[in-house]
Amino acid sequence: MVVTDNVVDMSLSTHPRSEHSIRLRIDGAIRDKDPLRIGGAIRDYEENIMKVVITGGGGFLGSMLCEALLKQGELTAPSGKRQRIESIVLLDAVFPSLSVDPRVTRKVCEISDREAVFDAVGTDADVAIFHLASMVSGECELRFEDAMRVNLDGGRNVFDAARAAARTTDELPRVVFASSIACFGGDVIADCFSDSSKHLPRTTYGMTKTICELLVNDYSRKRFFDGRSVRLPTVIVRPGKPNAAASSWASGMFREPLAGIDCPLPIRRDQRHPMTGYRTVIDSLIALHELPESRLGGDRAVGLPAHQVTPLLAEQVLAEVAAEHDLTIGKIVEAYDDRIQGIVNGWPTAIDGSRAMKLGLPQPPPVKEIVKQFLEDFASV
Ligand SMILES: NC(=O)c1ccc[n+]([C@@H]2O[C@H](COP(=O)([O-])OP(=O)(O)OC[C@H]3O[C@@H](n4cnc5c(N)ncnc54)[C@H](O)[C@@H]3O)[C@@H](O)[C@H]2O)c1
Repeated sequence: MVVTDNVVDMSLSTHPRSEHSIRLRIDGAIRDKDPLRIGGAIRDYEENIMKVVITGGGGFLGSMLCEALLKQGELTAPSGKRQRIESIVLLDAVFPSLSVDPRVTRKVCEISDREAVFDAVGTDADVAIFHLASMVSGECELRFEDAMRVNLDGGRNVFDAARAAARTTDELPRVVFASSIACFGGDVIADCFSDSSKHLPRTTYGMTKTICELLVNDYSRKRFFDGRSVRLPTVIVRPGKPNAAASSWASGMFREPLAGIDCPLPIRRDQRHPMTGYRTVIDSLIALHELPESRLGGDRAVGLPAHQVTPLLAEQVLAEVAAEHDLTIGKIVEAYDDRIQGIVNGWPTAIDGSRAMKLGLPQPPPVKEIVKQFLEDFASV
């Protein structure tokens, strides 16, 4: 530890919890030049700070989660106490924009690179980890080997790095994993899937999510970390451009018409699909992180409640929003694609999110409200 006139530089310290350089200003203790008080002040300070790691932090949900955590400013630490978020480390293969908040560090990192992931997660026991980095469903279906490397090996890297950071089995880092309703499916599609439904993924993407959910359960049972998986319905309305997800049309059928452009629809107009809003998802990721593990039991995977949305309903909602905001909107136009409809056929059409609601996780607002939130956040209406 290096102490200068008014700064304690712990970057040279061997303290096991100071993985990154912490420059602390502890004016009173330094002024008195009292080594015991300095030590005590450092301990008090450290006990009240924590680090958050978000993999996929450059993506749609990861970047919004980062914003929400910066605004919130604190989170429950492994000790069970709420602690100030001193830094957020974002890991991603790409970052579309620059961050301005000094608390945020961006690390360009390939999630299947074990050493890079361990390095980015670090050895700081006062850490919370949100694992969101993933290839999307359409990509996984086309590139099996990459899906295994990124979604499966990448997941194991993150989970093992979290395990390595744990201080004791009583104070475990919390890990929140973003899973998907693509864990469900199969030849016999149930009317409604719940947390007690059997996992029968019909896509490589869903298979990797299922395995990671099981790993989260087992790492938690073994007291390697305190894990939670959030099983997400399709999240609307994603800003930007269409992506390679087989559910890309779900956001596109709102986003494109609102921008005055026609949206090609690769699936049937009466196709029911479980959807929720991004604000609800961010609140849910944080709420699930904050829940005491005693409320979760052995099954750490929680399916979020969702609306059953069809393109027909989307058209109706768009017409209402357009009338209220005096917008000229584009149309949802026929562009049927057998491959996409085939993937969607293997997905659930309805989700029972009652366990999530019992746990106090939020329900999505009406679809029209979700669309208005998108306009508020991403378009100047
Ligand atoms: N958005 C949805 O509708 C939805 C639905 C169900 C589940 N999920 C899950 O939620 C999480 C976040 O979703 P999102 O919508 O923000 O997705 P996204 O594609 O916007 O973000 C994922 C991020 O992971 C990064 N990534 C991909 N491969 C990587 C690699 N090899 N190394 C490092 N980073 C890599 C991407 O660059 C991207 O920024 C994902 O795990 C996704 O599977 C999302």
